[in-house]
Amino acid sequence: MMPLAIRLSSKDRLAKSLRIWHLSEQKHILGALIYKPTYSPFLGQIWMSTCRSWIYRKNNGAYDLVLESKSDCNSDHLGPRDVLVAIRAVSLNYRDRIAWRNLAGRNVDGRVPASDGSGEVLAVGAEVSQWKPGDRVAGCFFPRWQSGRFDLAHHQYDLGGILDGMLREQAVLHEDALVRIPSHLDPIQASTLPCAALTAWNALVVRGRLTAGESVLVLGTGGVSIFALQIARAFGCKVFITSSDDTKLLRAREIGASDGVNYKTHPQWSEQIWGMTESHGVDHVVEVGGPGTLEQSMRCVAASGQIALIGVLTGFGPPTTSLFPLLARNVQLDGIYVGPRDEFVRMNRFLEHHAIEPIIDRVFSFDDAPAAFAHLESGQHFGKVVISVS
Ligand SMILES: NC(=O)c1ccc[n+]([C@@H]2O[C@H](COP(=O)([O-])OP(=O)(O)OC[C@H]3O[C@@H](n4cnc5c(N)ncnc54)[C@H](OP(=O)(O)O)[C@@H]3O)[C@@H](O)[C@H]2O)c1
Repeated sequence: MMPLAIRLSSKDRLAKSLRIWHLSEQKHILGALIYKPTYSPFLGQIWMSTCRSWIYRKNNGAYDLVLESKSDCNSDHLGPRDVLVAIRAVSLNYRDRIAWRNLAGRNVDGRVPASDGSGEVLAVGAEVSQWKPGDRVAGCFFPRWQSGRFDLAHHQYDLGGILDGMLREQAVLHEDALVRIPSHLDPIQASTLPCAALTAWNALVVRGRLTAGESVLVLGTGGVSIFALQIARAFGCKVFITSSDDTKLLRAREIGASDGVNYKTHPQWSEQIWGMTESHGVDHVVEVGGPGTLEQSMRCVAASGQIALIGVLTGFGPPTTSLFPLLARNVQLDGIYVGPRDEFVRMNRFLEHHAIEPIIDRVFSFDDAPAAFAHLESGQHFGKVVISVS
């Protein structure tokens, strides 16, 4: 719940607040005062004197998650193209575990975690043309990657890394850093899209030029892999999957996987996948494992297939094997880092058209955010772990 203060702004602040609203919104103020105070962008602006954020705080080699309240966090200072968003839900990615446990040596002290959030527009700056209060939006992982080729400079502007992330009650984002959420999804579901879904989309559809009738291998049953499974099925592709858990393999079959293999009980799982494809191999591998799984991914990719190199579940070290099979099989190796905003928009249209709903393992309350991180770390989840914010 948003904390509602009993305090009104001073006359000056009120006048300043009013100036940043579009005139068309000001006419709703009276109605909002009478009927739905918590939905009112105006009341959001002047009655909320504090809002809460989770923050990473350095503790020995890693980080604690600390809940902080900030007064006057809901900005009186919206820039002309800024948008004030009430965050409704945040989803976690393995990347948040990497930051929390300091697995990549990145300094995130004092930073708000999590790239992925969805919410509702509360207020817009004077020159904002794309959004109005009440619009349902999600943030972009790379707020400045709008389209086209990736630029290394985008690494300086990632949410939940260099920039504050979404695990807070309100956020101010540039209008170009938002997309409309698909109409068939609620904010909990939509919070799962910015990183995991867009990464799967970019890997398979954009870079992999996925075609109906092809085959796809996804590793494990986490966020990226399950989205890849759903997208590939909607394209009319055959999907194979690996997991450490037979029950999860059964669940994967229920949502469309053709077959799967337990990589714990079958350490040479590529042999099983090769057999399942009648020695053709898979046309696409969604490679979320990294150095410890690449060797077997290369063994089960088809000639002229694609390996989308996405993840680091087995660490950041060098590959443990020769890369020669990539040449020998004429394989396309694509390094993938999430995706641009225009593809996020295109993906959302696709999800809407196919009525694809994200698979959500569990939803935690905002106050219970550390338990959500612990659940992600446990690896028990299937699909996405979400935190409901307000
Ligand atoms: N490059 C990018 O843009 C990008 C974007 C998103 C994620 N990623 C990376 O992709 C990876 C997955 O991210 P995520 O958020 O989807 O993770 P996640 O939701 O936390 O899923 C992790 C799951 O992966 C499976 N797994 C763990 N170790 C494995 C192994 N050695 N071999 C095969 N599967 C294994 C497990 O599934 P089972 O329980 O079924 O075994 C585990 O539950 C991470 O390394 C993350 O950093 C990269």
